[in-house]
Amino acid sequence: MEYTAAVITVSDKGSQGLREDTSGPALVKMLEESGFTVVETGIIPDDYEQIRETLIRLADERKVCLALTTGGTGFSHRDVTPEATLAVVERLAPGVPEAMRAFSLTITPRASLSREAAGLRGDTVIVNLPGSRKASTENLSAVLDSIKHGIDILRGNDADCGDEHHHEGHHHGEHHHGEEHHHG
Ligand code: MTE
Repeated sequence: MEYTAAVITVSDKGSQGLREDTSGPALVKMLEESGFTVVETGIIPDDYEQIRETLIRLADERKVCLALTTGGTGFSHRDVTPEATLAVVERLAPGVPEAMRAFSLTITPRASLSREAAGLRGDTVIVNLPGSRKASTENLSAVLDSIKHGIDILRGNDADCGDEHHHEGHHHGEHHHGEEHHHG
């Protein structure tokens, strides 16, 4: 099973070389430690159209299993990543940001200002993360294992993203395994 991923940093300053991107590399490391192959990273400005086009390309052309964004999810006027994401997903996955915020609220009440969205486009799971290294890695840690299971279900463990060994047939059985939570 190959889990491919892309990490896109959304930051005006980062895209102009005015701020070092520490979140992107930290997320890449987390993904690789979790068994993902990161096939693309990039930094783009907080521009609605560019975010939209990047996510569409990652889903429709590169067909990555998981497209992560980091940044552009707060309250400032330039923060439009969730809106650009909602414009490209075909189905919502609200439980992912719900879980991230539920976990993050145990760390800081300011998690209530986090506007991340998540959803599915084709065979790709798209998830927004906050911009800071600390917040983005904490948020991802709350959902990464579940996302992998979601990818298995979305892809039906087919050749594009996987091999045979996870095949479970129908999805209405009891799935009590794999329910442990890693919040550390
Ligand atoms: N979530 C976690 N787990 N840890 C954090 O430190 N910071 C919060 C919040 N979520 C934080 C967090 C803060 S201070 C803000 S303003 C919001 O995320 C929005 O972050 P963003 O603007 O970087 O997207």
